[in-house]
Amino acid sequence: MLSGKRILLIIAGGIAAYKSLDLIRRLRERGATVRCILTRAGAEFVTPLSVSALSEQTVHGDLFSLTDENEMGHIRLSREADLVVVAPATANIMAKMANGIADDLATTALLATDKIVMAVPAMNVRMWEHAATRANMEILMARGVLFAGPVDGAMACGEFGAGRMLDPLDIVTAIETHFATGAPLSGKRALVTSGPTLEAIDPVRYIANRSSGKQGHAIAAAFARAGAATTLVTGPTMQIDPPGVSVVHIESARAMLEACRNALPAHVAVCAAAVSDWRPETPSDNKIKKNGGGAPALTLVENPDILASLAKTDNARPALVIGFAAETENVAANATAKRLKKGCDWILANDVSTGSGTFGGDENQIHFVTETNIEDWPRMSKEDVAARLVDQIARHFAEQDPA
Ligand code: CTP
Repeated sequence: MLSGKRILLIIAGGIAAYKSLDLIRRLRERGATVRCILTRAGAEFVTPLSVSALSEQTVHGDLFSLTDENEMGHIRLSREADLVVVAPATANIMAKMANGIADDLATTALLATDKIVMAVPAMNVRMWEHAATRANMEILMARGVLFAGPVDGAMACGEFGAGRMLDPLDIVTAIETHFATGAPLSGKRALVTSGPTLEAIDPVRYIANRSSGKQGHAIAAAFARAGAATTLVTGPTMQIDPPGVSVVHIESARAMLEACRNALPAHVAVCAAAVSDWRPETPSDNKIKKNGGGAPALTLVENPDILASLAKTDNARPALVIGFAAETENVAANATAKRLKKGCDWILANDVSTGSGTFGGDENQIHFVTETNIEDWPRMSKEDVAARLVDQIARHFAEQDPA
């Protein structure tokens, strides 16, 4: 099931490292190529010789090894993989990953990779339950790191509880599941817009809105996890670039439209950006001063409608064009009208009225509007909305192209 897959296995320093030796064998039995990075602490538990013998590859461990760097630099090592697996993922390596610390080959490769990372935690139950580890895990999950395990069980330290690493065959199952059902959109190209746009008034001032980019970024991350080649065109946000996604940072609506056009062709486009509807007609080249003559009058002109433009593109229209509808009243009815007006296929309508907590919040409640149907989704996290949408898209393509 893993034939031709290239796995970069990072073995960190935990007693469970001995299970990673068996993991190498199990992955190779199924046709995967396994390259390994063994951290210094990892080498206290298993030897480079065993790792090398089982993987039949050079074992990498030293960031500053000239020979290693010549043969296979740390960037290539991290990029020439279909999946990066950290097993055991100790509390320490998870903390480094969450904070972007790169102080050895393993953590440098993890920071440099543009591939999906699966962490397989292994640690003492108290360490696992510690608020610091919880917070690190939340950060990593928000960035798209996949987690397999841990499970409850007896620990090497004599305690019992959660923190025990999955057994090798269970890790193999998690990896196989990732590749099998995890890539229903492989071969598809996806385009996502996210965040606000900024429209200049003068060099220091602009018009913007409260969009956090959480929903759009979550959708781009879900597309990448589903195997789609994904471009995210985003206005300025506090969100981290999702892993495995090609991100184009823009400011204005016009720049967003141009970047979207450059990203075509795509099979599917999802417009989640809160595009400014208007921009100042002639932004001032210099900072507008208070000259005692009263407030300046701003003349606004309408921005291009990116969603409508993608939906109406003649020759390179994505097969599926999906928009959002931010409404404060008559949500379903307005969204149905908006779908027709914009010419898109599906609309995810949400209530953004004051008190709904949608803008900037972590949750969303969607009315999913298609040509034939309106489905009310329960209130859920923006990540779950993203996963459900991408799932729906995958099913749509599977129905269109049953082969
Ligand atoms: N949208 C866009 N370009 C614009 C305006 C909106 O691509 N210039 C997209 C948004 O990304 C979203 C959808 O259109 O997917 C609907 O956005 P919304 O703000 O709800 O609608 P508007 O078109 O701005 O209409 P109105 O403000 O009148 O409700």
